[in-house]
Amino acid sequence: MSAQIIDGKKIAESIRLEIKEATQRLRAEKGIVPGLAFILVGENPASQAYVGMKGKACEEVGFYSITERMPADTPEEALLQKVRAFNEDPRIHGLLVQLPLPAHIAEHKVIDAIDPRKDVDGFHPINVGKLVIGEKCFKPCTPAGIQELLMRSGNDPSGKHVVVVGRSNIVGKPIANILLQKQKGANAVVTIAHTGARDISVFTKRADILIAAIGKPEAITGAMLKEGVVVIDVGSNRVDDPAARKGYRFVGDVHFESACAVAAAITPSPGGVGPMTIAMLLRNTLLAAQDSVG
Ligand code: GUN
Repeated sequence: MSAQIIDGKKIAESIRLEIKEATQRLRAEKGIVPGLAFILVGENPASQAYVGMKGKACEEVGFYSITERMPADTPEEALLQKVRAFNEDPRIHGLLVQLPLPAHIAEHKVIDAIDPRKDVDGFHPINVGKLVIGEKCFKPCTPAGIQELLMRSGNDPSGKHVVVVGRSNIVGKPIANILLQKQKGANAVVTIAHTGARDISVFTKRADILIAAIGKPEAITGAMLKEGVVVIDVGSNRVDDPAARKGYRFVGDVHFESACAVAAAITPSPGGVGPMTIAMLLRNTLLAAQDSVG
């Protein structure tokens, strides 16, 4: 079987264009420019790169954005004060504190301090709770991107058996909760498999839709999948490769070649879920700005 390649980059580009147009309308009709604030604590190179990409994406769709850089030894209280200041700032509709934070700062205290109406990451317990009970809320960006990828590639999860591999708060738990709702774009039967399973292939082999979010390079191979499965690979793992110009390359959690031989459709990594995460952050910020006028 030759699998359909789900092009996340292309789908994300078309969403970004839709957001750009909606932003122009919001500005013309209501005089509102969506504003997104980033707080970056410390010098983590991956975090710096992510915040840089997100800031550039804001610029491209016409958002106002500001990045607050704080040193790695910033006291917790100083960070909380910054969060509170952005909560009160009328130019700011969305606030994102880039994770991970330095070890001396309690992540949950910082997330709890964000105004849930500005929590475009969807990490605040109020938004997590609303997601679980199926109320309108900010959906975390990577899971929201996965749902959008499935729908826009013609792979509606309704009535399908979705197997999520991984139980993180950022991907595994929220995507499972999103897809099991009795709602459009969901209504799946969902299984969550994780490192506690003795043999993960018992679960992966039963998936109509397999979502891999485990953070282990190429851990899921074609032999662990059912013929005709739709594969969403959330993984992005840096592996050494002496043949590559930089000495490394990125691979997903799924072994792409062997999975392609059995799958009906598959996302590449890079170029699948990754670009969707930023598109969903922009969408959440636009929704926050639209909601700010009531
Ligand atoms: N670090 C890695 N992914 C994310 C994300 O989606 N949001 C934030 N705030 N930090 C992250």
